[in-house]
Amino acid sequence: MTSQLGAPGLELLLDESEVAATVQRLANELSERHEDGVVLVAVLRGSVPFLADLARAMSIRSVVDFVALTSYRHGAGRVRMLMDVTTDLTDRDVVLVEEIVDTGLTSAFLLSELGRRGSRSLSVCTLIDRPARRVVPVELDHVGIEIPDRYVIGYGLDHQGRYRNLRVLATADTDVLAEDPDAYVEALYGV
Ligand code: PRP
Repeated sequence: MTSQLGAPGLELLLDESEVAATVQRLANELSERHEDGVVLVAVLRGSVPFLADLARAMSIRSVVDFVALTSYRHGAGRVRMLMDVTTDLTDRDVVLVEEIVDTGLTSAFLLSELGRRGSRSLSVCTLIDRPARRVVPVELDHVGIEIPDRYVIGYGLDHQGRYRNLRVLATADTDVLAEDPDAYVEALYGV
């Protein structure tokens, strides 16, 4: 469902109940596939809201762990591990949890890295897939929604540190945000 939110270039992508329904569907898929439980490995920081809701919506046992990476976006040129999981992944069903897959560089790097840890299975669960920006092919096992090449904020996705804690997902105009990063604060937070 798409609707105007009363600010230029801002449109609702998923409202709160649509986010919850999407997360629940993914949780059901994972619960059915992994009866023995899973290790959820989330990529800091954007996937935290999704991870928290996903883990609680599943009906199976889960261990939660995190990785932190350098972002190729910020000049590093390639992805590098800043913080690794401490969980032993040997013989475990491991699910990589991302809130968005764009270029696929993050997922590809982590699939290669975590793929050497002797897990029983390794799969990817992403809330959002934006295939128009793909640079490397990556197999996504569980996808919440596929979106066109639009800039998205909310529910984990930030713009210069803002909007990450919203319960909704919205598409935004990057020209508007370039002029004023706070441009959507009033419309989205009601202040
Ligand atoms: C985002 C998101 C994914 C990654 C996906 O992280 O959290 O991990 O990008 O993009 P890719 O498919 O192009 O690799 P970001 O670098 O924005 O950091 P953040 O989560 O800390 O905001």
